[in-house]
Amino acid sequence: MKTSTLAPVSAAALDSLVQCCVVGLESHGELSESGKQMDMLGDGWLTRAVARGDLSGKRGELALLPNPSGSGVQSILVAGVGDRESMDAEAAFELGGTIIRRLLDRPRGAIVVALEDFVPSRFQVDLVAGSVMAAEGQDLYQNPKKNHPPEMVQFMGFAEEVVDKGSILGSSMNLTRRLVNEPANHLYPERFAQIARDLAEEWGFECEVWDEQRLDTERCHAMLAVGQASDHESKLVILRYRGADEESPPLALVGKGVTFDSGGLSIKPSPSMVDMKCDMAGAATVLGTILALARMRVPVNVMGYCGLVENMIAGNALRLGDVIITRSGKSIEILNTDAEGRVVLADVLNVAIEARPSAIIDLATLTGACMVALGTEVCGLFSNDPQLAGRLEKASREVGEYLWPMPMFPFYAELIRSKVADIKNTGDGRWAGAITAAKFLEEFVENVPWAHIDIAGPAFAERAKGFRDAGGTGVMLRTLVRFLEPSVAE
Ligand code: BES
Ligand code: MN
Ligand code: ZN
Repeated sequence: MKTSTLAPVSAAALDSLVQCCVVGLESHGELSESGKQMDMLGDGWLTRAVARGDLSGKRGELALLPNPSGSGVQSILVAGVGDRESMDAEAAFELGGTIIRRLLDRPRGAIVVALEDFVPSRFQVDLVAGSVMAAEGQDLYQNPKKNHPPEMVQFMGFAEEVVDKGSILGSSMNLTRRLVNEPANHLYPERFAQIARDLAEEWGFECEVWDEQRLDTERCHAMLAVGQASDHESKLVILRYRGADEESPPLALVGKGVTFDSGGLSIKPSPSMVDMKCDMAGAATVLGTILALARMRVPVNVMGYCGLVENMIAGNALRLGDVIITRSGKSIEILNTDAEGRVVLADVLNVAIEARPSAIIDLATLTGACMVALGTEVCGLFSNDPQLAGRLEKASREVGEYLWPMPMFPFYAELIRSKVADIKNTGDGRWAGAITAAKFLEEFVENVPWAHIDIAGPAFAERAKGFRDAGGTGVMLRTLVRFLEPSVAE
């Protein structure tokens, strides 16, 4: 799906090559400018439909109508926006997604979205991002495809930079979503690494891949232990994007990249295992974010670390009671092989601190406990640095994503003390499971400002929504880009 801007023209000037013109309607009956023009061309047909109650203008309501006048665009999509004054980043993103998803049912050529007077300029990027995001879904291996993204979407009256930026954000999210949606027989560590190499080449960032031999000489024995029962080689993908001068220290993004989590010998029951191809969403978000930063040429230095392993079962699998010496030198006792993400991240975080980053942010589908605490829509935020946490929270609010701080009191660390090693990889029983996982990670970041984002709930949607297919969501990518962008004075 291509995108572009379109100079504001009268809706009447749009010709029949335009398959659909999208106009807006508020719940108190006010049409957007182009809506009013379409109404006039059809002798007040839209106004009458509103008066009859056929169109409510409720947020999310859509009516696809054939153009009643003999010439011009083929059809009109009336998009309910509720109250224009209450438009925010989340509403704009979802509006874009809802519009495009309504138009996926058959192949379409050019679409014109004429909502420039209904979406304030600071949220227009979000509308474009949502539109581009929604064009792709989880139907990767369906043939013929049920969904047909329109060939071209033109955003009337939007600045070119706005359309470009929104498109980059939407398509970078789609990279992340596609990686999450790829089944684990197609996407394993080596494939992920190859995709990262190709993108680095194409968009001008650097990519280094550590294979198992290198991981061994680097003493990444925790990461290797989790992957040792898999037929696929474990890989650490290290990305470097230089958008600022050499002296400015990088921010480090770290992602959990378990391409499949069977649980290992602490095997998951089938219903919990079905979606575990999604357990590399953190790594996919790191790659998608760096792709977006590079394409947008954001003036920052960022390192990305994707710890890629497959958690499987075989005669050489990691056992309960095994003790591993991590790269940092700390020893960990394995009491549950299904608590593998933190074991992988122990080594990856240790590699990341060597780049002397200004801060580390890790993203991981780490715990079911975080979903118990916050539900499926909200990411958990854990940090050793209140200022960093505050800035991340602010960025998430600005783009309309949900991120909520969790406590990290020192006494929680007692729950991961081991009798035989420095720490163990589970807490005591089921209490505070998301927090004890975060306390485990904290052991490996030394004094670097660090934030851990548990995306176990929001990274993978079990059900479709009006604005987005089920499957990978790309959550937190826009938050991270906003966090790293030079802030715009409001
Ligand atoms: N990958 C899972 C967490 C997860 C659960 C992600 C549901 C997405 C959806 C993680 O590796 C895991 O299995 N965690 C265990 C930890 C426990 C054994 C201490 C959990 O949450 O049950
Ligand atoms: Mn697990
Ligand atoms: Zn896992």
